[in-house]
Amino acid sequence: MRRAPVLVARAVFPEVVARLSQHFDVESNPEDRIFDKPTLSARLAGKAGAFTTGSERIDAEVLDAHPQLRVVANMAVGYNNFDIPACTARGVLATNTPDVLTETTADFGFALMMAAARRMAESEHFLRRGEWTKWAYDMFTGSDVHGATLGILGMGRIGQGIARRGALGFGMKVIYHNRSRLTPDQEAPVGARYVDKATLLGEADHLVLVLPYSAASHHTIGAAELALMKPTATLTNVARGGIVDDAALAVALRERRIAAAALDVFEGEPRVHPELLTVPNVVLTPHIASATVATRRKMAELAADNLIAALTGGTPPTPINPEVLRDGRLPPPRTGRG
Ligand code: GLV
Repeated sequence: MRRAPVLVARAVFPEVVARLSQHFDVESNPEDRIFDKPTLSARLAGKAGAFTTGSERIDAEVLDAHPQLRVVANMAVGYNNFDIPACTARGVLATNTPDVLTETTADFGFALMMAAARRMAESEHFLRRGEWTKWAYDMFTGSDVHGATLGILGMGRIGQGIARRGALGFGMKVIYHNRSRLTPDQEAPVGARYVDKATLLGEADHLVLVLPYSAASHHTIGAAELALMKPTATLTNVARGGIVDDAALAVALRERRIAAAALDVFEGEPRVHPELLTVPNVVLTPHIASATVATRRKMAELAADNLIAALTGGTPPTPINPEVLRDGRLPPPRTGRG
């Protein structure tokens, strides 16, 4: 039987490409070119499935140009690069990689928050510049993490992981805001208190953003929200660029309206707002919160599991739009779409 053609749109572990090649006719991208929209579309010609990352946008236009495409498997938990309603309307299965990265990403979010609170990047840059000539009582004094109030915006799996670290490891008080309130059973182990967004902004000593990006969460944190925060507070974003108005944040940091920030994600990344590059009180990392070898392997394997199951009559483990499945399986392709 002819093997289904699939595109692996970015470089990924060769073992995972080899595994996919046992099932499919794989076109891969070992040189890791970033495909612009026309190139992505050209590469998708004739493909039944695609292994993607956050850098490939799958929207109605792409789907309409490729009616044979049946599954798009993102190697990421976030999927704002997919137009999910457009996929669902066309019967295209979209999958992501939840759970396998929760603890790793929570580790990193917590580390970034600590780095901002204790001014780690700023003081390291000072040392590297050769400016450390003496001890001083007020040199790089920051704010405590232990016993402080941890604010979490977006209390999903990763948010709860960060809350656990704060409450159980550092004796932090946890407050949070989310689209929906957790159950008492979920709140109790970390003593999490549900508050409205304004209270969260006003009370948090360290605010961590872990909410998904959507049009509704665009610039959730802008100048007005930053103005509600304590001048001693820190802001950490391990969610998505665009949730924070980076220009407004750079101004707030420069004017010390908040003490510090830590960002792993940026509006329009890998471009970083030039003002953020010049303010000292921000820790900047290149979207690496899930980047441990073990976790990146699990993410790649899970994306491959989804692709293989979807196209070989199995049950994809982590569908985003399970409504396109029938009895847990992707129905056979219809000829023509419309
Ligand atoms: C990374 O940002 C992810 O969504 O997995």
